[in-house]
Amino acid sequence: MARIIDLKTPVPGPASLALLARRQKAVPKTVSQVTPLAVATAENAVLTDLDGNRLIDFGSGIGVLNAGHRNAKVVQAVKDQLDRFTHLCFQISMYGPYVELAERINAITPGSHDKRTFFANSGAEAVDNAVKVARRATGRQAIVCFEHAFHGRTYLGMSLTSKAVPYKAGFGPFVPEIYRIPFPYCYRCDRGPTDGTCCMAERSYFDRLFASHVEPASVAAIIIEPQVGEGGFIPAPKDFMRALAAFAKDHGILLIADEIQTGFGRTGKLFACEHYNLVPDIIVTAKSLAGGLPLAAITGRAELMEVGHVGGLGGTYGGNPLACAAALAVLDVMEEDHLAARGVVVGDRIRARFLEWQRRYPEIGDVRGLGGMVAMELVKDPATKEPAKELTGKIAAEALKRGLLLLTAGTFGNVIRVLVPLTVEDAVLEEGLGVMEEALRAAVGR
Ligand SMILES: Cc1ncc(COP(=O)(O)O)c(C=O)c1O
Repeated sequence: MARIIDLKTPVPGPASLALLARRQKAVPKTVSQVTPLAVATAENAVLTDLDGNRLIDFGSGIGVLNAGHRNAKVVQAVKDQLDRFTHLCFQISMYGPYVELAERINAITPGSHDKRTFFANSGAEAVDNAVKVARRATGRQAIVCFEHAFHGRTYLGMSLTSKAVPYKAGFGPFVPEIYRIPFPYCYRCDRGPTDGTCCMAERSYFDRLFASHVEPASVAAIIIEPQVGEGGFIPAPKDFMRALAAFAKDHGILLIADEIQTGFGRTGKLFACEHYNLVPDIIVTAKSLAGGLPLAAITGRAELMEVGHVGGLGGTYGGNPLACAAALAVLDVMEEDHLAARGVVVGDRIRARFLEWQRRYPEIGDVRGLGGMVAMELVKDPATKEPAKELTGKIAAEALKRGLLLLTAGTFGNVIRVLVPLTVEDAVLEEGLGVMEEALRAAVGR
């Protein structure tokens, strides 16, 4: 296969720079701009920018394109729906794709219990709604969340989010009745290296923690990303998850799994909860659900979701027909192309390369992640583990110069994460990893 990356100008080229100059006059700089790239077209894992440069995309618009950019089946489904109607508002008139999608999500999410699903437009909105359901159903107010968590940018999503800068600074006051507890970040665990068992996975640990934070009887829900996303791709240890679920059950606390980034095959299972045999009471999904169209789902036990008054939940656009049609096609692709299994293959290749580089570069402190949700954490010194944020940014910049779009992550900004479409061709993946290695070498300087 011929090389995919084809650079006709430096990146960013003149057309990208021209759009950037217009953007700077029209859009506030507070909306972050991770790269200066302006894209003309996208196909599977390949971007073509306004200057005609071809690049490889390892970011998928932050984990939205597990089924690839412009997946043919998704594009066709949206075109077909465009020819029927684009909007009705589900609360006003029903349409088949909304109900069918709810049925399918109820069937594929963890647990065989009776479920209900409704839709919103973004991950943050789904998180807001999950908390509404949990509070209404339990009659309790407190919500417990984790350090390193990211749950979105609405006032509730932001309040549940852990990273102060840039997500929270200057935006307070935040939503009350939120309690934050440590996430098991094994690489940075204060209690030192473990033998694979989590030192937080003990009942007494949770008892002590809640004793000093919040009375369990007043907690409506605990919200957790099974593998932290924005916070640095940190998978929860299995025994921790087991202990947490048992604690929650004993106290009548609902478990909300935020699978917005981990969902739909990314971790090598359809949902990351499956790695833990975890059946959450509520699961929120978005991102790769609709292959690039804005859609989020809130799925929960029927007996919880049915509590409350008619009209308490909903919204003008939630479950937009185009987005539902796209999502139905995404689910077909997931099944027909075995994307979760592909997540394992893609992840194994990435991990093998990262581990090989780690042997050469002590700056790579940790390599981790479930299935195809893999990351490396960069440190100045493997002994002190001081985060190497600057080096991380430099690697991403060197990669972009060479035609590879890479995303960073982490509470300390020192993680490089890969969210390449799971449909990526093997040769494209290898080419991208080769560029990543060159970028690493250039950034480290040896
Ligand atoms: C785990 C998680 N939850 C919630 C969100 C918020 O989703 P959205 O940006 O669609 O509001 C994100 C987005 O990155 C996420 O990764």
